[in-house]
Amino acid sequence: MKKIFAIIVGAGKGVRLGTQTPKQFLHLENGQRVFDISIDKFKSISGIEAVLAVVPDGAQKQFGYAIAGGDTRQESVFNGLKKIKQDYSPAPDDIILIHDAARPFIEITAIMDVIEKLQENPAVTLGVKVKDSLRHQDGHMIDRNGLYGLQTPQGFHFELIYKAHEQAQGKEGFTDDTSIVEALGQEITIVEGDAGNFKITTKEDLDMANAVIAKNSVFRSGQGYDVHAFDMDTPADSVRLCGVDVPYKYALKGHSDADVGLHAIMDAILGAIGKGDIGELFPPSDDRFKDMDSTRFVEKACALTQELSYALVNIDVTIICEAPKLGNHKQEMRTRIAKICELDERFVNVKATTTEKLGFTGRGEGIAAQAIVTVKGSH
Ligand code: CTP
Ligand code: MG
Repeated sequence: MKKIFAIIVGAGKGVRLGTQTPKQFLHLENGQRVFDISIDKFKSISGIEAVLAVVPDGAQKQFGYAIAGGDTRQESVFNGLKKIKQDYSPAPDDIILIHDAARPFIEITAIMDVIEKLQENPAVTLGVKVKDSLRHQDGHMIDRNGLYGLQTPQGFHFELIYKAHEQAQGKEGFTDDTSIVEALGQEITIVEGDAGNFKITTKEDLDMANAVIAKNSVFRSGQGYDVHAFDMDTPADSVRLCGVDVPYKYALKGHSDADVGLHAIMDAILGAIGKGDIGELFPPSDDRFKDMDSTRFVEKACALTQELSYALVNIDVTIICEAPKLGNHKQEMRTRIAKICELDERFVNVKATTTEKLGFTGRGEGIAAQAIVTVKGSH
């Protein structure tokens, strides 16, 4: 079996786009960085041995495993190849995939098509047929028949691409790796790709990228509900609600710190991301969670949200009790929730209500809370 390695080159300056932050480090509409979207596509393929990010010198620390690029794309790729040679000593026909960080819309199936072709062919590229008629500025038409615009990933057998880059040292003007390999007389195999895998190069491309993200974005909502009874046998100073200690004569009873507000929020988050409920993640039968600060629960739910590529949009929680009175504490709770969830305070809302002395909350036996949370993600 051939081993497969991927190099994602993202050490360019993005001069043609002209943003202060190079394009591969921009966040798209869904909050994700272009570079991370590209890397994640390759990381999600289990057959790939290692995914190496090539980044501008100084940015290595942000990535788990990254190396510094060079002044040209060619140099950046070669730095990646040298690192792979040094760390993994690949066999001559092991597969090296080279992809532009600036192409975040690469489909997993297209990567698999390239890998498949590389079983038999040593140099493969994705390409799309040229659709427009072509005319050179000095006045002659170019027959578009048989012409392809090349994309990445391009893939090569290790020894071929390494040798080609060694021999190309000191020569300039290569804008992709097939042209470097072709200089050795190697034939190139084209795999038909699709135009969706465009490279973010200009402002127009960036706008299009955000439009694609917006078109694919989904909103999901979840609700949460929780109740805890007051521990009326033990006088206390305060009751913990939404991470805030509110002065009161009783605290709530529970396995953890019994923070009904945070429990409702946690369940609402889990609901929105389709991950069950608080009891599944933190079983009350597990003693590790005894007296646990509920902040940890919510942090865990937020971490899961991120892992699943969702972003919190807003949180709305209602605390239902006769006493204590919460009017003067709502703002503090709001600030606290926003901090725990790393969400702008504008997108957090805390409400308090009574039940007109009806039911267990009306009789002052306990507190109920309900929450609704919305998250945004993509298909
Ligand atoms: N690249 C690189 N090292 C360089 C130049 C480019 O790793 N010295 C990477 C880019 O980060 C990008 C890919 O190669 O992911 C394709 O290059 P291009 O679209 O030309 O990106 P930039 O060179 O950054 O853009 P520009 O040419 O507009 O400056
Ligand atoms: Mg460039």
